[in-house]
Amino acid sequence: MKIGVFDSGVGGLTVLKALRENFPEVDLFYIGDTARVPYGNRSPQTVIRYSIECATFLVEKGVDILVVACNTASSYALEALRVKFALPVIGVVEPGVREALKVTKGKVGVIGTLATVRSGTYQRLLRREGVEVFSKACPLFVPLVEEGIFKGNIVKAVAEMYLKDLKKQGIDTLILGCTHYPLLKDVIQEVMGEVNIVDSSLATAHQLEHLIIKEGEGETALYFTDESQNLYKLIKILLGNNLKPVILQEDICHGKS
Ligand code: DGL
Repeated sequence: MKIGVFDSGVGGLTVLKALRENFPEVDLFYIGDTARVPYGNRSPQTVIRYSIECATFLVEKGVDILVVACNTASSYALEALRVKFALPVIGVVEPGVREALKVTKGKVGVIGTLATVRSGTYQRLLRREGVEVFSKACPLFVPLVEEGIFKGNIVKAVAEMYLKDLKKQGIDTLILGCTHYPLLKDVIQEVMGEVNIVDSSLATAHQLEHLIIKEGEGETALYFTDESQNLYKLIKILLGNNLKPVILQEDICHGKS
């Protein structure tokens, strides 16, 4: 069984890691669109187009399930992907919301890219359940992670700047609404103090449980649309191995989207 996973860059590797740990028997194909990261400040139309291109690449690899390991793409492109491809398409937003609802006492914060926060997807799903929601876009977090900077004074200062209002609101749960953010979790937790931090990667893996056929031993193939400076270091940190990625030399979908 083959699962295709995509993100704008390395952030989706947090989801890939959870999938690998939970389903050792599936083949995992990952594409990180490092040539065009970040998606989080693009228009909805562009996010949809890039998402269809990444998904087309994975579908051509013969995947049985598509995991959209990007909150920005999950917020805007799920519908378009489900219409275009006849296979299960799983996003990261709903699993994150479900996880937050399990632990919250009623006040949830959501942090994500500008596009994710603007889409209002998290806010809508949470408010429907009677939860009070506060959100904040944190656009500097993604470049920090892509640069391999996960802690230290700069990350702390940026986190304090973005999170101070959420802290004042007295939220009890914070959803990391971007798959890059789990890499900054320690600093975010330190700044926020005693709040539940929800990372949807594990919840997303659990959502696939009933779709997986468990037989054999799976392999992992990593593709990126550009060789970013810290790619190898980040793969090592995130996946704990020296898996060699393939850097694609041409457009991912040859104009087929
Ligand atoms: N990791 C992605 C997300 O979950 C996208 C970050 C970006 O490209 O801006 O939204």
